[in-house]
Amino acid sequence: MELDDVDTIAVLGAGAMGHGIAEVAALAGYNVNLRDIKDEFVQNGYDEIEWSLGKLAEKDQITDDDADAALDRVTPIVEMEEAVGDADFVIEAVPEKMEIKRDVWGEADEHAPDEAVFATNTSSLSITDISEATDRPESFCGMHFFNPPIRMDLVEVIRGNHTSDGTMDITEQLAEEFGKTPVRVRKDSPGFIVNRALVPLMNEVAWLVGEGEYGIETVDSTSKYGMGLPMGSFELADYVGIDVSYDVLEYIHDVLGDAYEPAPLMREKVENEELGQKTDKGFYDYTDGGEGVDI
Ligand code: 3HC
Repeated sequence: MELDDVDTIAVLGAGAMGHGIAEVAALAGYNVNLRDIKDEFVQNGYDEIEWSLGKLAEKDQITDDDADAALDRVTPIVEMEEAVGDADFVIEAVPEKMEIKRDVWGEADEHAPDEAVFATNTSSLSITDISEATDRPESFCGMHFFNPPIRMDLVEVIRGNHTSDGTMDITEQLAEEFGKTPVRVRKDSPGFIVNRALVPLMNEVAWLVGEGEYGIETVDSTSKYGMGLPMGSFELADYVGIDVSYDVLEYIHDVLGDAYEPAPLMREKVENEELGQKTDKGFYDYTDGGEGVDI
């Protein structure tokens, strides 16, 4: 498979990352099969794409015609066979659980064309382990986008133990076609590069606040105004989903050991289903349409 042969991209999972990746692919001119397990989920993802394209057009970052054409290229689908049957490239962005990812890939592998390339948007899990759910692990790699995909420039392209050079090359080329900057991750280790650094930072500030000396806003002010991050660390955890960061953290902890033990404050938020912006409550409160954060 060469990049020029890629015409249709299947995106499996229409959540925050999946619909964002689908939008990026459609804007780059690809036909996109956006698939989720329920009509409602896939429709939500489609609606989010429509909203985002509308925002970009409103701000003259794209034309109205570009927005309409990109949306026309996205097909919402529930059936796996229909989603991947004509796909040249499949990108998976389903929940960050090994069993779910392996199940989805096992099913996709049955229906996708033999020459299709497979990429998982996992935030931290082993590419090698996921790839072994398919009969073509050499055509499988990691393609890790950042939230929100439409705005974030970086894509980590991660080699599993079985990934061929050709698979790495075409995935990097596709990331460039998407207008992104790929970084090649040679070692399939938990959290790769970005989340290995970022998620322990979120965890460490949760330990710090848990010690009782400082409040969330104070610590976030230091991340934002002292370290130059675009958002405070708690604000960012709310933005990506505390559950998402927590899953990454648990996996890094399991594989790399005690230094990465999740802070009780993070665990409590997950147990109470206060997961950030998506549940209107996380480290900050977003009810009543509030911005949640003012630091
Ligand atoms: N599409 C289109 N418009 C969008 C949008 C989207 N997806 N999301 C937000 N907007 C709009 C907002 O509605 C708002 O519009 P308005 O001005 O009309 O109200 C506007 O964009 C805000 O844009 P600004 O440029 O003014 O906002 P910022 O300059 O603050 O940028 C940001 C927003 C890009 C999110 C910036 O705050 C940022 O870079 N934050 C950090 C993000 C980050 O670090 N992401 C990585 C997280 S880690 C990860 O994803 C890995 C995973 O595996 C866990």
